[in-house]
Amino acid sequence: DPAIADQSKDAAATAAVRLVEPGMRLGLGTGSTAAIFVRRLAQRVKAEGFELRCAATSKGTAELAGSLGLRVEELDDIGWLDLTIDGADELDPDLNLIKGGGAAHLREKIVATASDRMVVIADQGKVVNRLGQFHLPVEVIPFGWQATRQLILRALERLDLSQRPVLLRKRDDQPLLTDEGNLILDLALEEIHDPEALAAELSAIAGVVEHGLFLNICQLAIIGRPDGSVVELA
Ligand code: A5P
Repeated sequence: DPAIADQSKDAAATAAVRLVEPGMRLGLGTGSTAAIFVRRLAQRVKAEGFELRCAATSKGTAELAGSLGLRVEELDDIGWLDLTIDGADELDPDLNLIKGGGAAHLREKIVATASDRMVVIADQGKVVNRLGQFHLPVEVIPFGWQATRQLILRALERLDLSQRPVLLRKRDDQPLLTDEGNLILDLALEEIHDPEALAAELSAIAGVVEHGLFLNICQLAIIGRPDGSVVELA
């Protein structure tokens, strides 16, 4: 399949397809690895001809999955999910994640936490000892976003993370808008020593809709390697 070029991502995605059982209610993630999963899943469903109900974490994923013949429905029409498979921007040995590099972490977190099980698929480069090298995405509502940004900076000071850049994400020189019409602030933290404390501080700010820390949400990570093998972290 010419659309699938990355061996590591494909190895993880292909292994995750084996977790899918006929009749499952499935959450579909966002990003390049999740897109490979969607392609491999569609191939298997076509070959074996079984039923699935899928909820997508972004408009992009919904379009891709629909175009490949998968049945995509609204999360609320499905109600609850058996399994969600998604990528990640970083993961640590405790399976805590940074997500939102694709600006989809709000819907991703709703879908992942409305699932009995969340499995991450990633290449080895995403595995870190401590989260934070990847800029932490924080979705904020446009109203008063600069005041919200100041409150985030104050929260970072309380956590000994002062002087860390908090950057408005842009695309084509314009503020990027999420699928929900919100803005993204990217926090350049370098190292997050206490993810729980940071998550609590961010969630307490009125203008923050959702941050990209996924703590105690993921139960299994399938890490793909360039030679096509995978390792599992649980
Ligand atoms: C989307 O918002 C992110 O959470 C993605 O899961 C993340 O960016 C992973 O994307 P890749 O698989 O393209 O690295």
